[in-house]
Amino acid sequence: MRTIERVHDLRDLCDRARAAGGRVGFVPTMGYFHAGHRSLMRAARADTDLVVVSLFVNPLQFAPNEDLAAYPRDRAGDAAAAEAEGVDILFAPTTDEVYPRPPVTTVRVEGLTAGLCGRSRPTHFDGVTTVVAKLFSMVGPSRAYFGRKDAQQLAVVRRMAADLDLPVEVVGCPLVREPDGLAMSSRNAYLEPDDRRAATVLSRALEAAAAEIRAGARDADHVHRVLTGLIATEPRVQIDYAEVVAADDLTPVTEITGDVLVAVAAHVGRARLIDNMTVTVHDDQVVVDLGVVAPDPSAPESPQPEVV
Ligand code: PAF
Repeated sequence: MRTIERVHDLRDLCDRARAAGGRVGFVPTMGYFHAGHRSLMRAARADTDLVVVSLFVNPLQFAPNEDLAAYPRDRAGDAAAAEAEGVDILFAPTTDEVYPRPPVTTVRVEGLTAGLCGRSRPTHFDGVTTVVAKLFSMVGPSRAYFGRKDAQQLAVVRRMAADLDLPVEVVGCPLVREPDGLAMSSRNAYLEPDDRRAATVLSRALEAAAAEIRAGARDADHVHRVLTGLIATEPRVQIDYAEVVAADDLTPVTEITGDVLVAVAAHVGRARLIDNMTVTVHDDQVVVDLGVVAPDPSAPESPQPEVV
């Protein structure tokens, strides 16, 4: 694996791979890798010839009151993890390399960014789409891999790529959970032990909502009450939102039918955590996707059990 800091060197290596007929796979990240990041790298490794991972904590997607300075960083650990996943290039630019001058050109996806996380983080997705568009332009991937834990981000990036005719396939990969259900996130590092225990209420609430839907509940208000009722039992967890929305355009639904995203966000101690599940309901058939449990690191070849 080569670690590269300059856009010029990155372009050169990606150009050479494409000229030799190779497909470039890309995993954009902000580092502090966990099993979720590693699953994206593994997917890229399985599909493409040159795997590029970016490691860049993008200031543009943090509001002034957010955790840019505190965001966890572990450059050496990240390099070791990426190398172990067979990554070819770790692109770890400085802020000046990505933004040599404050950008006056930004990318904004309307509509999809208005609700869910966009409501409490109104500038966040503009920062995400701007940096992802720049990274796509630097790397030139044929496929780019994003986790479904950031379901709104995935929908927004997909729409950006479609609207701008970017020649990249945006691939959504399963949300990865800890064995006790907590969705993996670099921000879990902020959790004190009591908060860490309390945070599992988010996945427990989603599971309770899934059980109601499997049992025949179709009223979104009812599912919302189940979610918020359970989350409210944990005083350490302050709910930001719990919503039932259409999976394609993220608009609120009243009835659970077709493809629906059930998404939650909450403050737990210093962390703001998000979690979600997708539910597909056709006639009496219900399929719930809560993601997968991280493989046991001591048994790396074991299959990942689905927690559907
Ligand atoms: O999901 C993330 O880690 C970031 O939002 C991304 C896509 C790397 C852009 O900075």
